[in-house]
Amino acid sequence: MKLCVIGTGYVGLVSGVCLAAKGHQVTCVDLNPDIVAMLKQGKPHFYEPGLQELLTSVINAGKFTVTSSLSDAMQGAEIAMIAVGTPSVDGEIDLKFVRSAAKEIGTFLKAADQHTSVIVKSTVVPGTTDGVVLDEIQIASGKKLGQFGLGMNPEFLREGCAIEDFSLPDRIVFGYEDKKTLERLEALYAPWDCDKLAVNSRTAELIKYANNALLAVQISAANEIANLSAAIGGIDILDVYNGVCADKRWRPIVNNQRVTPGITSYLLPGCGFGGSCFPKDVEALRTLGQNNDSPMRLLQSVLDINNEQPSQVVKILSQQMGSLKGKKVLVLGLAFKPDTDDVRETASFKIVQDLLAKSASIKAHDPIATSNFKKLFGEPPSDLTFVEDWEEDVFEADVIIIATKWDEYKNITNLNLDGKVIFDARRLFDKGRLKNATYLTIGMRTRGQ
Ligand code: UDX
Repeated sequence: MKLCVIGTGYVGLVSGVCLAAKGHQVTCVDLNPDIVAMLKQGKPHFYEPGLQELLTSVINAGKFTVTSSLSDAMQGAEIAMIAVGTPSVDGEIDLKFVRSAAKEIGTFLKAADQHTSVIVKSTVVPGTTDGVVLDEIQIASGKKLGQFGLGMNPEFLREGCAIEDFSLPDRIVFGYEDKKTLERLEALYAPWDCDKLAVNSRTAELIKYANNALLAVQISAANEIANLSAAIGGIDILDVYNGVCADKRWRPIVNNQRVTPGITSYLLPGCGFGGSCFPKDVEALRTLGQNNDSPMRLLQSVLDINNEQPSQVVKILSQQMGSLKGKKVLVLGLAFKPDTDDVRETASFKIVQDLLAKSASIKAHDPIATSNFKKLFGEPPSDLTFVEDWEEDVFEADVIIIATKWDEYKNITNLNLDGKVIFDARRLFDKGRLKNATYLTIGMRTRGQ
């Protein structure tokens, strides 16, 4: 099938490349000429494991092209997928890019003798596809729904394993407004064998938000109980959590065997969720509730807990060590999670700010996200420097904070940690024991500590 994908961010590029890998003819469109130039050379403009290789292979197979001209990309396309950004402004998503993409598609369709289904891939609040998007296309094209198709196909991609998530999805949601669009979505995803749900567009839109909101609820709930465990002392939240998960509604017993659902290994108390999706999506849903006279009190608490959660790190450190003034602190991990260079809403940002407020002397490291973090942070104060070889700096540090669960930080056990404080904010070390070091974490305080 011939399709064009508008927007080459995480979602657009990963979707385009993975659909091309299944044999579809994909053209991606991006307004940014630098991004187009890079992609033409087979170089993604962000890091995602496996993406570089797959991009090269679909380009070589002649299945993937990229252009800055939407009308070129639209020629003969049966599907036009909108995968542009939906930035958050005052808690609401800003639809300006979605609107302009829909308008441009409509303008193309006005003069074109082709039937195209427009599919919204961007995460948008319920009512956007069959409202704003439909209106923009109808006005710009002078055509009515039926003369073009319309649908919504949410993504469920986790950064760091987006290729795997696209290739082996748990479900695919087909939101559709007309039968032809449903048939096209079914054909597009025919190579995938998984649960496929056909619903209307606004239901598809809410499935995406509800999915992320309910996961975020679980994370904030686990973090709140973790904070209580630490406040009481003598309890490790992970032991509590294991006990809770033994309930067969969490971990069912099938044929005398415990099944371990993904949620039980996904959830891990720590310094809070970040990234481009959870914070923004929960906020957007909270605001949507407010605007629809259906207040989302729980989601407000989820956000409040999460906003404060990174501060647990410096709070606990201060309780244990007293003043942090002049203490040499090495922060390991700046990305919002491992296997990505994305620093959006990263907990490390707040941790570094808290440390600076306590006049600590900070060195910070990330395997691949340092330059993005520097852009986010702006001109660093003299108390903050960035290092490339973190192992060299362990010797000098009084305190080492593991803020992102990068595998390479496990090497710390091979180094001399005599007298150091290790704050393992992401439970890199399950059992919390490190020889000769004081081990601190979230959700556990040894009695007397
Ligand atoms: C998420 C959703 O999982 C995905 O389905 C959706 O399409 C996009 O948003 P992503 O943001 O890439 O994906 O990361 P995810 O692995 O879900 O983690 C989100 C954040 O939650 C990370 O900051 C992670 O560290 C944090 N997290 C996760 C916790 O703080 N505690 C947990 O128990 C689990």
